[in-house]
Amino acid sequence: MKITVAGTGYVGLVTGVALAHIGHNVTCVDIDEEKIKKMRKGISPIYEQDLERLMKEDKDRLNYTTDYKEAYKNAEVIIIGVGTPERADGSANLDYVFGVCNQIADSLEKDCIVVVKSTVPIGTNDEVEKYLRENVKKGITVDVASNPEFLAQGTAVRDTLHASRIVVGVESERAKEVMSEMYKPLTKEPYNVPFLITNRRSAEMIKYASNDFLALKISYINEIANLCERLGANIEDVTKGMGYDSRIGNKFLNAGIGYGGSCFPKDTKALHWLSVSEGVELKTVKACIEVNKSQKIRLYEKLRDDLKTLKNKNIAVLGLTFKPGTDDLREAPSIDNVELLLDAGAHIRAYDPISIESFKKKISYKLENDGTEGSITYFDNIDDAITAADAALIMTEWPEIKNYNISKYKKLMKVPRVYDGRNCYKLEDTKDIIYKSIGR
Ligand code: UDX
Repeated sequence: MKITVAGTGYVGLVTGVALAHIGHNVTCVDIDEEKIKKMRKGISPIYEQDLERLMKEDKDRLNYTTDYKEAYKNAEVIIIGVGTPERADGSANLDYVFGVCNQIADSLEKDCIVVVKSTVPIGTNDEVEKYLRENVKKGITVDVASNPEFLAQGTAVRDTLHASRIVVGVESERAKEVMSEMYKPLTKEPYNVPFLITNRRSAEMIKYASNDFLALKISYINEIANLCERLGANIEDVTKGMGYDSRIGNKFLNAGIGYGGSCFPKDTKALHWLSVSEGVELKTVKACIEVNKSQKIRLYEKLRDDLKTLKNKNIAVLGLTFKPGTDDLREAPSIDNVELLLDAGAHIRAYDPISIESFKKKISYKLENDGTEGSITYFDNIDDAITAADAALIMTEWPEIKNYNISKYKKLMKVPRVYDGRNCYKLEDTKDIIYKSIGR
């Protein structure tokens, strides 16, 4: 099938590469010329396991271009995979989605199925179809299908090829046929992915409801963890005991310093916003957002309570990304904590295996404009980051951090004081240091 994908971020590029891998001819469109040049050389613009390997393996079925007219005009299927960032009021910004629609309307020369893979508020697919039908050349038929994406960063390629499910929302037989044809290889051996057809609004809702449920699960367990700390229970034993109940399950119950990333924070706010605007506020989602906001700064609060003042204290911050296996810093708890530490006049010694350069850019506004008394120095190894530090805060459970020899905290730090936001170590291994974690 001749498929064009608009946008080469996590969703667009991974989808394009996966579809090429199962035999389709895919053209990936992006406005960024530099990015396109890189991808033509087989270099992935994002850090994602297996992606570059497949970009090389399936290069004969993959094209990259900034020439959207050429890419859209004869495509059988066009997949929109551009961002839907959060607006200041929490609602989803659809400018990029409709920007692409504009280009599609401008370019299309034959009938086409347009697939919305970006996470969009319920009802958007209807608007996209209406917009396209009103604006394409006369005589061309466009049907729109909703096809939400469930991939997680760090495992995006595997999550796409071996997806938990493929959900397709359609309002026409033709869209149903084309989408079933496109995904046929993934529904068979060796992938056997379950394939669910719904109406478009249900498909849009499945995405938000799934992400918000997972976010709720995390906020819930984080609140239980905070209570465990007060009452002398151990959250790990508690979740283990809960997980035996198959109705609860044992996944996504890791207590920590909250969720970050490009999806949960944005999707909880967007669905909450939508529910309020419809007059049926989702109070559980509202609570989930509030809990996560305070959970993200739990380590800072524990440290401040213990040290009283952080002025001129040397604080190691271990891990900067919102989770391991990705270079993404969006909504990472490290940012909230580093901002507070800088305001308190601390000298930060930051370590991350891959994201130091992007973190520097992200935090530069604070150092340059806010006149903070604190400072940040960056290190490419944990040993140097913790040397002579007054405390270390673990923000991300990178394997390098999880497997770090605990005795070194005692050897290298001024005071071996470790605050672990991801429960990386077994409690019994931390007897020789001052160690605080979440819910234990
Ligand atoms: C998520 C969903 O998993 C994915 O299905 C959806 O398509 C996009 O959003 P992602 O944001 O890449 O994917 O990461 P995920 O692994 O889900 O983690 C999100 C955040 O939750 C991370 O900050 C992680 O540290 C946190 N988390 C996750 C917990 O705090 N506890 C857990 O048990 C699981």
